[in-house]
Amino acid sequence: MPLTDSTSTTINRAGIRYGDPDFVLGATSPVIEHQLRHRSVRAFLPTPVTEEELRAIVAAASSASTSSNLQAWSVIAVTDPERKRRLSDLAARQKFIIEAPLFLVWVADLDRGHRLAERDSKPLGATVYLESTLLGVIDAALAAQNAVVALESLGLGSVFVGAVRDHPEEFAEELGLPPHSVAVFGLAVGHPDPTEDADVKPRLPQTAVLHRETYDAGRADADLPAYDERLAAYNRAHGLTGAWTERVLARLAGAASLAGRERLRGILERRDLPSR
Ligand SMILES: Cc1cc2nc3c(=O)[nH]c(=O)nc-3n(C[C@H](O)[C@H](O)[C@H](O)COP(=O)(O)O)c2cc1C
Repeated sequence: MPLTDSTSTTINRAGIRYGDPDFVLGATSPVIEHQLRHRSVRAFLPTPVTEEELRAIVAAASSASTSSNLQAWSVIAVTDPERKRRLSDLAARQKFIIEAPLFLVWVADLDRGHRLAERDSKPLGATVYLESTLLGVIDAALAAQNAVVALESLGLGSVFVGAVRDHPEEFAEELGLPPHSVAVFGLAVGHPDPTEDADVKPRLPQTAVLHRETYDAGRADADLPAYDERLAAYNRAHGLTGAWTERVLARLAGAASLAGRERLRGILERRDLPSR
């Protein structure tokens, strides 16, 4: 089936998502069609993100599910150009952090619990465990992804910034983060520059990610060569090189490919999140 259906002018966005025109959804909705259009934006116009837009984005983030309703996350909205420049320097010098009018830093935040315990003179011992660190990271990730869906629905664009974890202690100092908290990723937000050479990036086929009843590695990997070809074609079309497999293997090759993040356990310990 063509990606554009000439009879109805409906675009097969699921086909674009998988780089496979034959993949068609039999059930869909406006929300799903919106999500299928996601792409990271790394070039922004200088137009600011308004305070009302920020409030709407955070309302969507707050609407995500959260472990035991602990809501163990916070987000720091950074608009000051000098602070964005310093944060960009710490996050692999990615220039879109400076260019984006708004940089959101998502924080796994167990300190709110500590402040409550201190206020009420209650014991608080659970945050030393890995489970609590994971809880904060999961809560922050769910909130942030809700924010991405929301901001895209407002015509804005964004890109996550995992490079925040290259220097979490310096991020904490710059942002005045309390102990028992750590910045887990950033999100550069703004109005997409329409001249950016980027598009919806094909994802792994459903055969690779969806298992029925039990995990089946053989079946899951059968279509990886076809996906490699699809991603290589996407990369060629956008002036990039390589396919998927080689990038995955390079990214996972060893400590050297972690850009300093292999030190994270010690850093969490010093941020009073020892993750035992
Ligand atoms: C947690 C996380 C961290 C990321 N960090 C970066 C980053 O530091 N720099 C960057 O350019 N993209 C970053 N990305 C964006 C991914 O590269 C991007 O989502 C992926 O290539 C898929 O492309 P798409 O979002 O356009 O579909 C990150 C994404 C996630 C989810």
